[in-house]
Amino acid sequence: MAQSGIMKDDVQAATDHVIGLHDVSFSVEDGEIFVIMGLSGSGKSTAIRTVNRLHDITAGTVVVDGTDVATLNKRELEHFRREKMGMVFQHFALFPHRTVVDNVAYGLKVNGVATDARRRRALEALELVGLERFYLSFPRELSGGMQQRVGLARALAADLDILLMDEAFSALDPLIRRQMQDELLAMQGEMLHKTILFITHDLNEALRVGDRVCIMKDGAVVQIGTPEEILRDPATAYVAEFVKDVDQGRVLQVESVMTPPSPFTLGTTVGEAIAALSERGSAFCIDDEGRPVGVVTRDLLAASHQAPVESVMNTEFGVTTRSAPLVDAYELCASGDLVAVVDDKGALEGRIHALDLLAELGEIESKAEQVKAADPSVGEARL
Ligand SMILES: Nc1ncnc2c1ncn2[C@@H]1O[C@H](COP(=O)(O)OP(=O)(O)O)[C@@H](O)[C@H]1O
Ligand SMILES: [Mg+2]
Repeated sequence: MAQSGIMKDDVQAATDHVIGLHDVSFSVEDGEIFVIMGLSGSGKSTAIRTVNRLHDITAGTVVVDGTDVATLNKRELEHFRREKMGMVFQHFALFPHRTVVDNVAYGLKVNGVATDARRRRALEALELVGLERFYLSFPRELSGGMQQRVGLARALAADLDILLMDEAFSALDPLIRRQMQDELLAMQGEMLHKTILFITHDLNEALRVGDRVCIMKDGAVVQIGTPEEILRDPATAYVAEFVKDVDQGRVLQVESVMTPPSPFTLGTTVGEAIAALSERGSAFCIDDEGRPVGVVTRDLLAASHQAPVESVMNTEFGVTTRSAPLVDAYELCASGDLVAVVDDKGALEGRIHALDLLAELGEIESKAEQVKAADPSVGEARL
């Protein structure tokens, strides 16, 4: 029935069977954080569970690293789960009567790793998540955030290539949650380089941690894209509704609003600067190394035409980098002048003007509104 286009609810009404997934197709690249996002009941857990075959599928294929998981027999499947991927759950799933270090080492013990080795690896994993001092504590002595760190450490201790994280941060308070997201990203950037399939019902979280995000609804894929693609180009009213609630400043990076700087070099005269100034009416001045040293505006240039720009430029301005979240630029822009975007050597590579920033945010809002207005199913989009 699903294959002939009948909707999930109708199939259920007619047959009492729930369609777990239908027409779901995506690939996850090596070393990528791929996020599956959708409301509760949209099929996220079902999807992730097909990857380690906690669920069997009735059509289609799931291939992990060249292995079609459906072809594995019982013993191969056990081996595959143990050798290939670790899972982090929403509700920690720690043993209450075991210490933190024993919880973390448990999987290694099951895998037959010797006592000393598994203790060492468990302690290393605890160090990664900042909990080495608590290794002898019991789960009940830790906060929710700390318990989730233990859950993460347990998955990391096994040192497997793939991490499956099903709403791993969803039970945490917003602040702790953001902290965990930052830590995961920092770990992944510095040394983990794991392939992570990350599930969440929170689009803010999805866009923050995901290299790419797959949005699901009613067991089907609605859109797959980079965070920026999803923000700029929501595929349906369902996605647009989520996008409206997203804190864009934390998803987008400075890069997305910066423009070429067209700076003046020191020694340029005021006369030359006035002639060359764009209609925006301000520009950076750079030194011999390309580093921004000041800003000139039309007002400042009202001096003698022969004077060099450095004699009139304003030397106070904000500085950021291309990969900084846009929210960092808000405050810098508040003073009204230009913000310099510099590379790791401090050389000017772009500029942000407050107006560009506002225009950008406004554009995303209005795009989301348009998509919602244009979608005939908007009235029935179940949100
Ligand atoms: N064991 C099950 N038996 C029947 N239906 C299930 C079972 N598990 C999940 N479902 C149904 O499958 C759909 C997707 O569930 P799930 O994958 O858990 O969603 P999510 O993780 O996105 O909240 C829901 O409609 C849910 O009711
Ligand atoms: Mg779920």
